[in-house]
Amino acid sequence: MSAQLIDGKAIAAEVRARVAAGVARLAARSGVVPGLTVILVGEDPASEVYVRTKVTQTAAAGMRGAVLRLPAETTEAELLATVARLNADPAVHGILVQFPLPAHLDVARVVEAIAPEKDVDGFNPLNVGRTAAGLREAIVPCTPLGVLHLIKTVRVDLGGLSALVVGASNVVGRPMARLLLGEHCTVSIAHVRTTDLPERARAADVLVVATGVPGLVRGDWLKPGATVIDVGITRAATPEGKVRLVGDVAFDEAVQVAGALTPVPGGVGPMTVAYLLSNTLDAAERAVSRR
Ligand code: GUN
Repeated sequence: MSAQLIDGKAIAAEVRARVAAGVARLAARSGVVPGLTVILVGEDPASEVYVRTKVTQTAAAGMRGAVLRLPAETTEAELLATVARLNADPAVHGILVQFPLPAHLDVARVVEAIAPEKDVDGFNPLNVGRTAAGLREAIVPCTPLGVLHLIKTVRVDLGGLSALVVGASNVVGRPMARLLLGEHCTVSIAHVRTTDLPERARAADVLVVATGVPGLVRGDWLKPGATVIDVGITRAATPEGKVRLVGDVAFDEAVQVAGALTPVPGGVGPMTVAYLLSNTLDAAERAVSRR
């Protein structure tokens, strides 16, 4: 048996097309063009690639995308002042501070400084709380939103299914578990200190893996027919000296057992950016309705 591959690249293109249509409708109705500003502090090479993709796709959807580059030695006061300026700028509907930040900057303080209605990452404590409570005004983090969309392309009704989220980060694992709970799954969260991970994984109808440990989840950890979403993306060297992107799931084994599976790359990655655009459009629509 071979799992259905969930084509995140194609599904993300559909999301982006929906966003582009929404952007055009909003502009026609209100004259407002949604604007996203990404703040990049320092010169992390992986962040450079992500930020370029985010801004290119923002523009392709008809929105205004900008990158504010700040030097690695930017002080916290300077960064907070930049965030405050963007909070007050009516042309900016979404603010994203790219992680990782240089070590001298306090991530929590920076995230708390972003106006909740412009926090398109969904990391501000107000959005974390609203997401936890399942409130409509929540801005929900992009990766879990994208993952839920992928799961729903293969399983329409998740009610009563057993879901396991491996990884308890604030960016993916915790909000993911809250979204699955909202879909009436029976949800568990596992992490690196979980002792019986294979047994727990084998009980899951829906398995979301976000640990950053390449190949952690083996084929014999899976319930036959399970829906498996691999959020991991690690750069690994091939024997030929090339760089290859690998996920947290041993793909060649999992594809024999799972019912549906995301590839790496081309699974979750494109969905994260698509939902960043979607969150930015939503933020702009809410700003217009507040006018
Ligand atoms: N760096 C890697 N992923 C993310 C993300 O989702 N948001 C931000 N702000 N930075 C990241």
